[in-house]
Amino acid sequence: MNLAVIGVGYVGLVTGACLADVGNHVSCMDRDAGKIARLERGDIPIFEPGLDEVVRRNATGGRLTFTTDMARAVCDADIIFIAVGTPPAEDGSADVGRVLEAAMEAVRYIDRDVVLVVKSTVPVGTCDRVRDAVQALLRTMRSPWKVTVASNPEFLKEGSAIDDFQRPDRIVVGTYDTASLTLLRALYSPYNRNHDRLIAMDVRSSEFTKYAANAMLATRISLMNELARLAEKVGADIEEVRRGAGADPRIGHHFLYAGVGYGGSCLPKDVSALSRLAADNDEPLDLLAGVQRVNERQKHLLFEKVGKVLGDLSGRTIAVWGLAFKPNTDDIRDAPSLVLIRELLAAGARVRAYDPVAAPGVAAVIKDPDLALVGSARDACLGADVLVVVTEWREFKSPDFRWLAKTLNQPAIFDGRNIYDANYVQECGLRYFGVGRGE
Ligand code: UGA
Repeated sequence: MNLAVIGVGYVGLVTGACLADVGNHVSCMDRDAGKIARLERGDIPIFEPGLDEVVRRNATGGRLTFTTDMARAVCDADIIFIAVGTPPAEDGSADVGRVLEAAMEAVRYIDRDVVLVVKSTVPVGTCDRVRDAVQALLRTMRSPWKVTVASNPEFLKEGSAIDDFQRPDRIVVGTYDTASLTLLRALYSPYNRNHDRLIAMDVRSSEFTKYAANAMLATRISLMNELARLAEKVGADIEEVRRGAGADPRIGHHFLYAGVGYGGSCLPKDVSALSRLAADNDEPLDLLAGVQRVNERQKHLLFEKVGKVLGDLSGRTIAVWGLAFKPNTDDIRDAPSLVLIRELLAAGARVRAYDPVAAPGVAAVIKDPDLALVGSARDACLGADVLVVVTEWREFKSPDFRWLAKTLNQPAIFDGRNIYDANYVQECGLRYFGVGRGE
């Protein structure tokens, strides 16, 4: 099929590249000329394992092209995906202005009947708005073409996006008519061979599903983080509790890790957008308000723990491992590391931080002579008093604890992700502070 993807952010680029990989011809459009120029050179603007290979393979094969020209992008397209951002507005709601704008602009240049698929995460009712605006435009233009709108939210996880796209748990499709459902079923058939992963529904339910899923995920994390605080007070270990409770298949082991709070571009933004939608509809979601409060508080946890152990932090040096909001990405949006580093610096401490890929992003937002972004995990510990682990990158999983015990001035690890065996760390001569585990 011929496809156009409008908006070459994270979702747009992964979608375009993966759909080209199964033989479609995909034209990716973005009005950011710098980004398009980089992509044309084969330079991928985001760090996502495997993405560069898929982009290069399909660009070379002529199936994946990049342009800033909307007319060029949508001519010949049977399906147009809208994957532009929906940044939070001041009141926490998702701003869908760019979705509407992109849809209207795309429709001006179509040269056949098309299905316009909204992939961006949008509040319930947005596709109705897009549909009405597009129909009005087609009437004014006296266009001979028919445009049907569909909702197809994205469930990719950063760091495993290619695999998630190629082996989806589910493909949610919301349509107004059966013809567009049939077309989208055909488009997704390469991912749908062995099990039927496509869940068809009405458009509003499809829009809602995306928010509901992220709200449930965020709720699990905040509940675990709250239980972790209590576990510490009552002398239980949240890691044992997680194993015990998660063994119930109704609960499950996934996404049950206490830590430093959820970050990233999706959970925080989607939880506030859903809360806003709820308030606007006079149906406030009390539970979600708590989920957000717990998460904000959790981001201060490591700072509080370090302060309790070291006392006055001025003149201290703290090593920080991990800056990205999670491993395998360079994304630092809403990352707990930023909260910790800002608090440490404000308390007069010096910070030596290391992340395999996310340091440039942090350098751009925190400019402070007391923050050193260094080139290796060991380097971060040189001259440091204690070590704080914020992101569970694989390379941090088995450090040389005895070396750390010799190197740190006040040998202690604050393990924000509970990745270490407390007993072994202590045997190696370090104090150990996890989340929800006591000392
Ligand atoms: C999330 C969802 O997991 C995806 O299904 C969804 O498609 C995506 O948002 C989106 O809306 O686009 P993502 O933000 O990439 O994906 O990352 P997650 O793996 O969900 O992690 C989110 C945050 O929760 C991270 O800060 C992570 O460290 C934290 N987390 C995750 C925990 O603290 N505990 C856990 O058990 C799991």
